[in-house]
Amino acid sequence: MSIPYGRQWIDDADVSAVVDALRSEWLTTGPAVATFEQSIAAEAGADAAIAVSSGTAALHAAYAAARVGEGDVVLTTPLTFVATAATAAQLGARIEFADVDPATGNLDPAAAEAAMTDRTRVVAAVDYAGHPVELDELRSIAHARGALLLEDAAHSIGSTYRGAAVGSIADITTFSFFPTKNLTTAEGGAVVTSDARLADGARAYRTHGLVRDPERQRMPDEGPWHQEVHEFGLNYRLPDVLAALGTSQLSRLAMFKQRRTRIFERYSDELADLGLTLPVKHAHVDPMWHLYPLRVPAADRRRIFEELRARGILVQVNYIPVYWHPVFEDLGYRRGLCPVAEQYYREEISLPMYAALTDDDQSRVIDAVREVLA
Ligand SMILES: Cc1ncc(COP(=O)(O)O)c(C=O)c1O
Repeated sequence: MSIPYGRQWIDDADVSAVVDALRSEWLTTGPAVATFEQSIAAEAGADAAIAVSSGTAALHAAYAAARVGEGDVVLTTPLTFVATAATAAQLGARIEFADVDPATGNLDPAAAEAAMTDRTRVVAAVDYAGHPVELDELRSIAHARGALLLEDAAHSIGSTYRGAAVGSIADITTFSFFPTKNLTTAEGGAVVTSDARLADGARAYRTHGLVRDPERQRMPDEGPWHQEVHEFGLNYRLPDVLAALGTSQLSRLAMFKQRRTRIFERYSDELADLGLTLPVKHAHVDPMWHLYPLRVPAADRRRIFEELRARGILVQVNYIPVYWHPVFEDLGYRRGLCPVAEQYYREEISLPMYAALTDDDQSRVIDAVREVLA
């Protein structure tokens, strides 16, 4: 049996929660969504959570709420999934990439600061592998130029930074609940924020920009059925069926975190003698590890990757620098822009990391890594 790099852990309580939602009055836009949103907001230490249909939708809605548009610049990291940048580009922003810290793979505050201009509307940082970015520094850098800090926390729900939950520090934070993530709703995501204006903007964007409050309508006398659109939005709603799964999963987040921490520590202990670059953890953070990013000599990465895959260890590479994607190349972005991220990419292999990974399967991974490096 092969071992994936990430996967969900669904138990009987999750199945019952989904079945209950299916048998309820509401398949979507019902009470399970509100319950899930309250639980996510509490977990994230934020005033509001807006559940959406994916982490990509969360980013798109968050940028829209930040009023990103033509003429704006969004500054981000190249070491991320393309959605972090693509959703801002979809709104007409120009994407500026700043390089990463070679230790954590996270946006380097010094590089970010050097790249800031008065047109920078949002600094979008990613908690790579689950390790929170330097939130205090990045927030100051963004605010000094009148920009907002968006934290793409697709990897890091459950992590803390200086004792505070991810979601409680940045101006606006986004989560993904894809099956490989720290908790899942199959597809899903959320925007969290304690800024009421940003919360309203993301909520409106999720549902076509519909205005239902007669006080705010331009045509309030149209009739009791009336709702109207002032600004474009999309249908990014998360159904009740999936929100119910999310609430059930969230009740086991602490256990998932313990398990991921143990797996992380065991890899770090048992691979320490191989002379590879292992992921680091700063003292002021407590990550919920989403990935175990191992770094191997760049010249051997492809062989190691293929030999691990041949042994049924379905390792992954996270990530090709975003601006290497042809869509960015066609816009004029060139290789060499962020050399640290490029080198990180050339060396990186993500080992299997998920709460349901058994000790025996982790032993298989460790033995296979040792074998292919021997
Ligand atoms: C850093 C990052 N941002 C955004 C996303 C997009 O999330 P989703 O797949 O839920 O749309 C992902 C997940 O693939 C991710 O890893």
